[in-house]
Amino acid sequence: MKILVTGGAGFIGSAVVRLAIARGHQVVNLDALTYAACLENLASVADAPGYAFEQVDIRDGAALAQVFARHKPDWVMHLAAESHVDRSIDGPGVFIETNVMGTYQMLAAARQYWEDEGRPETFRFHHISTDEVFGSLPNDPEVKFTEDTAYDPRSPYSASKAGSDHLVRAWHETYGLPVVLTNCSNNYGPFHFPEKLIPVIILNALAGKPLPIYGDGSNIRDWLYVEDHADALLLVVEKGALGRSYNIGGENERTNLQLVKTLCGILDQKRPKDSGSYADQITFVTDRPGHDARYAIDPSRIRNELGWRPSVTVEEGLEKTVQWYLDNEPWWRALQNRAGVGERLGKG
Ligand SMILES: NC(=O)c1ccc[n+]([C@@H]2O[C@H](COP(=O)([O-])OP(=O)(O)OC[C@H]3O[C@@H](n4cnc5c(N)ncnc54)[C@H](O)[C@@H]3O)[C@@H](O)[C@H]2O)c1
Repeated sequence: MKILVTGGAGFIGSAVVRLAIARGHQVVNLDALTYAACLENLASVADAPGYAFEQVDIRDGAALAQVFARHKPDWVMHLAAESHVDRSIDGPGVFIETNVMGTYQMLAAARQYWEDEGRPETFRFHHISTDEVFGSLPNDPEVKFTEDTAYDPRSPYSASKAGSDHLVRAWHETYGLPVVLTNCSNNYGPFHFPEKLIPVIILNALAGKPLPIYGDGSNIRDWLYVEDHADALLLVVEKGALGRSYNIGGENERTNLQLVKTLCGILDQKRPKDSGSYADQITFVTDRPGHDARYAIDPSRIRNELGWRPSVTVEEGLEKTVQWYLDNEPWWRALQNRAGVGERLGKG
């Protein structure tokens, strides 16, 4: 299939592009190359015959129409977004423009193309979203996000993603556009931009800097290895039922403090300090305003209907991730100079 992937120079998008090419698909990567993008993530596929790149902003409807007309994709996988909650607290405007208005422009361009092509039944518009649209859960293992959980976004980021989810469903109900949606939990793994928790902890640890933990570290997240996520996304775009959404989780709930201690233990083994543990660098810092207490995914639907399960535990995935950062210093060093990286953002 020919897949138009938006945001393919980002963390998850690049994992999708690499996997799709490896599986024999053709990929058109559409990305504006914001501060969060890194074309190095695609070095392994950049020369593949089935790969093309278009530097386009999803807010630019005319440019999107040209890309659809030029490449005639079979499927769209829409990942382009502003994605960092802390940045959404400091500057929400661009989150509304990209995540809400940009998704509207994508839907409008996709619909026009789909109509012009005679409404092919096999066309798919796959919208990739987050579990953060569901709000915050109590600390009760019996309670998890299902696809029927009511939306309750609490940050400018999650509110903008919730808005985009609603638009995608509306385009299906109103115009019949063949859509599928996914809402997934926190991703981690290779090529994770060094402003997010896991790379921040690894890189600060190696630099001998404090390991910042928001609040008391009791916030719980359900961690999903990015390559497992990419695998789930390619399954949903191919086999997901029309108009249906699927929650994707790693079945790996950990508090932030547990997660950071696990990372420190892996680093202690792989790159021991002269004395003591990396855990000695843990420092508790002012919490993020409106910090959601717990996210946890009930993945029954994707497991029962499509047969998908994560392939790694969080310990296995973190081990691979730490090794990747140890082996790829030039990649992360180059990104540490970008605006805002290494600063405390989103204090409100
Ligand atoms: N990272 C996570 O844990 C997570 C979890 C659930 C859902 N998601 C969703 O997955 C998607 C990808 O997340 P990510 O972590 O890879 O994000 P990312 O920030 O690493 O990458 C986003 C990409 O989108 C591009 N982009 C941003 N604005 C654009 C615009 N206006 N036009 C074109 N391209 C633009 C950027 O250049 C970048 O390459 C997002 O939609 C996000 O909401 C992420």
